[in-house]
Amino acid sequence: MRIIEADQVADVRAGEIPAHIGVIMDGNGRWAQMRTLTRSQGHAAAEDAVVATVDACLALGVEWLSAYAFSTENWTRDMEEIAFLMRFDEWLLRKERRDELNDKGVQIRFLGRLDDPRIPPDSRDWLTETAALTAHNSRMVLGIAFNYGGRAEIADAARRLVASGIGPDDVTEERLAAELYAPDMPDMDLVVRTSSEHRMSNFFPWQATYAELVFLDTLWPDFREGHLYSAVAEYQARRRRMGAASVASLGARRE
Ligand code: IPE
Ligand code: IPE
Ligand code: MG
Repeated sequence: MRIIEADQVADVRAGEIPAHIGVIMDGNGRWAQMRTLTRSQGHAAAEDAVVATVDACLALGVEWLSAYAFSTENWTRDMEEIAFLMRFDEWLLRKERRDELNDKGVQIRFLGRLDDPRIPPDSRDWLTETAALTAHNSRMVLGIAFNYGGRAEIADAARRLVASGIGPDDVTEERLAAELYAPDMPDMDLVVRTSSEHRMSNFFPWQATYAELVFLDTLWPDFREGHLYSAVAEYQARRRRMGAASVASLGARRE
C-alpha cells in the first residue's frame, strides 16, 4: 500500500472521497501484550486512534465513519475485560474527548442491541447521554457498533418487518433496509481492518456488500491520520465495478 506523506494529503482530498468508511479496530490486546500491559490498557489506548481517524475523516469530508467497538461475539471474553469494554467513559469516549468531538460537530450514534440486559444501566446511560448531546451535529456521523452483530441486525430487522404485518410478497430489499439500526446510513464504500486479520467478523454485512476492503498490519492503538489517508488513496486506486462488465459500462448505466 502506498504510504501517504503529509504533503500528499491534498491529492487524496482532490480524489473521490468515500461517503462511508468502516473501521474494524483490531489488535488492542496484542498491542498491550507487546508492552506487558493488561488487555484493558490496550483498549484504553484505542481512543487516540479513534480521534485521529475522526480528524482525518473531517479533513477529507467523509460523511460517515463506523467503528467496531464490541461485537455480539465479544461476550465470550473474560468478565473483567467485558466489564471494561462496557465502560465507554473509561476507554473509547472519555468525557473530555467526547466533548471535543461534540465541539468539532460530530454526531455520535451507537448501533447494536442496546437494550441487552447484560449492558450495565450506567453504561447505557452514558450512550444515551452522548447520543443526545451530539444529536444536533451535522458535520459528520461517528457510528459506534456496540453489542453489534451483522446477523443480529438483519434478524432484528426481519422481526420488525414481520411485526409490522407485512405479507411475504411485500418483503423487498428497500423495506428490510429501512428496518436496520440506522436506515439513513449510506452503504459502506471502504472497510479498513487493522492487525493483520483478513476477515469481517460480522461487521455490517448488509451495508458493506460492495465495500472495498483494506487490511493493515498496524495494530489499532497505533493507527493515525496517515493510515487513514493511505487507505483512502488505496481505495481511490481501485476500480469498483458493482457487477457491471467494465467500469465504463457502469458509468453508462448510471447516466
Ligand atoms: C480490539 O482488539 C477489539 C475489541 C473488542 C475492542 P482485540 O481486543 O480483539 O485485540 P486482539 O485481537 O486480541 O489483539
Ligand atoms: C472484531 O474483532 C470485533 C471488534 C473489533 C470489536 P475480534 O477480535 O473480536 O474478531 P475476531 O475474533 O478476531 O474475528
Ligand atoms: Mg481481535
